[in-house]
Amino acid sequence: MKTIDELLAEGVSGKRVFVRADLNVPLDGTTITDDGRIRAVLPTVKALAGAGARVVVASHLGRPKGAPAPAFSLAPAAARLGELLGAEVAFATDTVGESARATVAGLDDGGVAVLENLRFNPGETSKDDAERGAFADELASLADVYVGDGFGAVHRGHASVYDLPARLPHAAGYLIAAEVSVLKKLTEDVKRPYVVVLGGAKVSDKLAVIDSLLAKADRLLIGGGMAYTFLKAQGHEVGISLLQEDQIPAVKEYMERAEKNGVELVLPVDVLASGEFPDLKTKAPAEYITVDADRIPADKEGLDIGPKTRELYASKIADAATVFWNGPLGVFEHPDYAGGTRAIAQALVDSKAFTVVGGGDSAAAVRTLGFDENAFGHISTGGGASLEYLEGKTLPGLAALED
Ligand code: 3PG
Repeated sequence: MKTIDELLAEGVSGKRVFVRADLNVPLDGTTITDDGRIRAVLPTVKALAGAGARVVVASHLGRPKGAPAPAFSLAPAAARLGELLGAEVAFATDTVGESARATVAGLDDGGVAVLENLRFNPGETSKDDAERGAFADELASLADVYVGDGFGAVHRGHASVYDLPARLPHAAGYLIAAEVSVLKKLTEDVKRPYVVVLGGAKVSDKLAVIDSLLAKADRLLIGGGMAYTFLKAQGHEVGISLLQEDQIPAVKEYMERAEKNGVELVLPVDVLASGEFPDLKTKAPAEYITVDADRIPADKEGLDIGPKTRELYASKIADAATVFWNGPLGVFEHPDYAGGTRAIAQALVDSKAFTVVGGGDSAAAVRTLGFDENAFGHISTGGGASLEYLEGKTLPGLAALED
């Protein structure tokens, strides 16, 4: 994989460099609630602009359906990039149309432009190779060189991630290089005990990674909405908690395999349960009870791990040498249900282990809960991407940069 430093050494002055970033940031209207992914691409953009390249930054945001949708515009992200760079950033109101062509043509050496959301074009995510290829051809006409730096999207075989690098000389940006070097430490010669904390809503999103971790991790701590499918598989009633009934057989098989492989699979022992989902907009105080995980009332749902579980999980993290954490442990967006996620973040901060926080949600959670990013070994910008890397899958956006 060619590095950006090699590219810079060859000289990029006056060249149009297409930087595929992941500016898929959380928005409240047009307000960015966590700009971590924009800050993560700054080293690459700064280095290229500083070397006189004409930098064309492109990304997706959300999941629009192949047509312009104002709620998914990258305009706020472009404005924030300009603030962080302390420089003017031009914005093209389309992806490969008149505005994009004029904006790129108007760049001076060292100038930076952002294109509108790539997913406003159906070719970006198309399953049809020809349609994706045609879009990649149009993107290629806007640039002389490609730099892949959107780590959060490298697991997508999309036009700008997979097809475009095949059409231009290419290199990996600083973010991708940093992410890959950290994730390698978790897959090759990991320091033990290796503890993995998995949260998030759905078990089905995590099946593949659990499957592969059962051969690698020493302890697996489960929280978030997915924990209720595990509790149910153990024979407990979970009230109206999030449940993926169809995943129970898979989960049972995982529990058996964990035991056979000597992997400690730890489930919540208590939860905060309520009869209603909290209002995340007004953040009005929630009404809930704290109950043991095997006593969730029939009319209540679990919304966070309870105090005994927080303590238990912290003790399971305390002696770890490596910790990977993906997914919030509760509905952390509401202050009454943020305690479990906060406790795990604190346990990572307090441990001497090499700690990796993976995933847009968990990364945003540690920042919005006020933790110092430097207190963690690494905060990955990729959710699905880091999980698929740990699964050992070939990631299209990394494979495309290899040759
Ligand atoms: C993410 O948020 O994980 C990345 O930006 C990828 O987004 P996607 O899941 O919509 O492809």
